[in-house]
Amino acid sequence: MDLPEIADLWPSLAPSFENVTLRAFRLEDATMAVELSRDPYVPTTGTLPLNATPDQAQQWLQRQQTRHTAGTGFAFAVVDNTDGRCAGFTGLWVRELHAGRAQIDYGIAPSFRGRHLASAALRAVASFAWTIPELHRLELYIEPWNTASIRTAERAGYLREGLLRSHQKISGQRRNMLLYSSVRD
Ligand SMILES: CC(C)(COP(=O)(O)OP(=O)(O)OC[C@H]1O[C@@H](n2cnc3c(N)ncnc32)[C@H](O)[C@@H]1OP(=O)(O)O)[C@@H](O)C(=O)NCCC(=O)NCCS
Repeated sequence: MDLPEIADLWPSLAPSFENVTLRAFRLEDATMAVELSRDPYVPTTGTLPLNATPDQAQQWLQRQQTRHTAGTGFAFAVVDNTDGRCAGFTGLWVRELHAGRAQIDYGIAPSFRGRHLASAALRAVASFAWTIPELHRLELYIEPWNTASIRTAERAGYLREGLLRSHQKISGQRRNMLLYSSVRD
């Protein structure tokens, strides 16, 4: 199958849902990244260092800005429409585009939590994902203890498919992961 160059697929209209809009990261988003890095779980699942300095936060942002030109996926800043500030991130990762699948991750900086911004971001990123004809299945991998993320997935309409035992290593330990999915109608 001929796959599209994902560098050509960046959304022409910013994906949005309810109180959230997605856009490319800007260096001013370092304030959010510094705050997010203080949540000890976030650095264990990505490349943002724990308690990042402003320089480290900017380097993380720069890495996010190159994800789609590198072909790995789309890294979006999650903007809180109530004040236009960057509240977090969501990523659509398309290494399995050839198989019709993509994975999504997300994080909201602590001071923006409690308003379901992540589930709105999930809806927004899915609205973009379904414009890519090759995609048929969106997947979320969530640790069973992570109630906030489970509630986020379910609110956004994802269905739990099962528990993947010893699925991946996080902080040096094999972890079970719940698999959630949404499929093209
Ligand atoms: C998961 C995350 C993105 C959700 O952020 P959010 O959109 O602000 O979520 P909210 O705080 O609005 O909470 C969503 C739901 O989880 C519940 N919740 C939040 N924190 C909780 C906690 N510590 N324990 C139990 N339930 C919790 C809320 O009550 C809410 O429930 P509701 O849908 O019944 O109202 C955020 O907690 C986060 O960034 N966590 C760290 C990164 C992470 O775990 N990412 C996901 C990896 S799979």
